[in-house]
Amino acid sequence: MTAVLEAHGFGKRYRRRTWALRGVELVVPEGSITALVGPNGSGKSTLIRSWIGFERATEGRLSTGGVDPQRDRKAAVERVGYVPQTPSLYRDLSVAEHITLAGTLRDGFDEAMAARYVGRLSIPLRAKAGELSGGEGAQVGLALALATRAPILLLDEPLASLDPLARREFLHLMVEAVRAAGATALLSSHVITDIEQACDRLIVLGKGHTLLDLPIAEAIAHHRIVEGPPAEAVRLAGADALIGSFPAPAGEPLSLVRTPALVPVGTEPIGRAATLEEIVIAHLAAGRRRAADAARQAEGVAA
Ligand SMILES: Nc1ncnc2c1ncn2[C@@H]1O[C@H](COP(=O)(O)OP(=O)(O)OP(=O)(O)O)[C@@H](O)[C@H]1O
Ligand SMILES: [Mg+2]
Repeated sequence: MTAVLEAHGFGKRYRRRTWALRGVELVVPEGSITALVGPNGSGKSTLIRSWIGFERATEGRLSTGGVDPQRDRKAAVERVGYVPQTPSLYRDLSVAEHITLAGTLRDGFDEAMAARYVGRLSIPLRAKAGELSGGEGAQVGLALALATRAPILLLDEPLASLDPLARREFLHLMVEAVRAAGATALLSSHVITDIEQACDRLIVLGKGHTLLDLPIAEAIAHHRIVEGPPAEAVRLAGADALIGSFPAPAGEPLSLVRTPALVPVGTEPIGRAATLEEIVIAHLAAGRRRAADAARQAEGVAA
């Protein structure tokens, strides 16, 4: 496996405030499409921005396509097609002018490909960026990023302002472009149901560190849902297997348990299959509980 994005002992602290990220160990393999999820403020944008050298590591090191983004930001930027969380288009330039501009600024930028993508998303080339809706602007940003033909795509919440159909269309376009070019993509998102089909790996960040990092197929294979409170899950699967509990949409308690991928012949698996969203929510709930426990313990030590 060739690692395309790496973080080793990576930590970032903004000025004198608390750590945005700490002790992050990640290896993103070449050719993968990775979903980066986590609650607001968990450090997703910080991590993405650090991989292009826009933020300096406070400790540890990063690698972006084999280069240290801190030592050689230019080389890191050249390897990456990046879409920031807030779109950055010029209001008075048309979509076509954005494509021409990108073509002059960036070596290898494929203007015909950008125009084709924009066309497929039904956005008129003559429209000024200032006249586009939020979602249309985001789609233009994504088309520009794909057309860089960069080996690495870093997309910060590319789906946030898109309607459900546009989300599907964009994901389809992205998967097609990444697979055709043998590229590697990492996208942060809060919309877990959509990324389940498009991505093959999942990274979950809790408050500043990694809660999960594994292939999506493995996540699905190794987790089950017990429809009941934690005590019920412990009774069925044992205390070691319980990951966390959280409410279902209607409020009843659900518990996520870890299971061996292979269940011996003749035994019924515990509970029911878990959705990716349930797996993520349970790990976030468990991460929050661990953080609260650690804080209580620290207070106890201080008192
Ligand atoms: N420029 C900055 N100066 C100071 N603190 C910052 C800065 N940027 C981010 N932070 C802090 O770092 C932490 C992580 O922020 P980050 O934007 O990386 O989170 P995120 O996971 O992208 O959140 P969201 O889902 O809301 O986009 C937060 O506590 C945030 O307040
Ligand atoms: Mg963010």
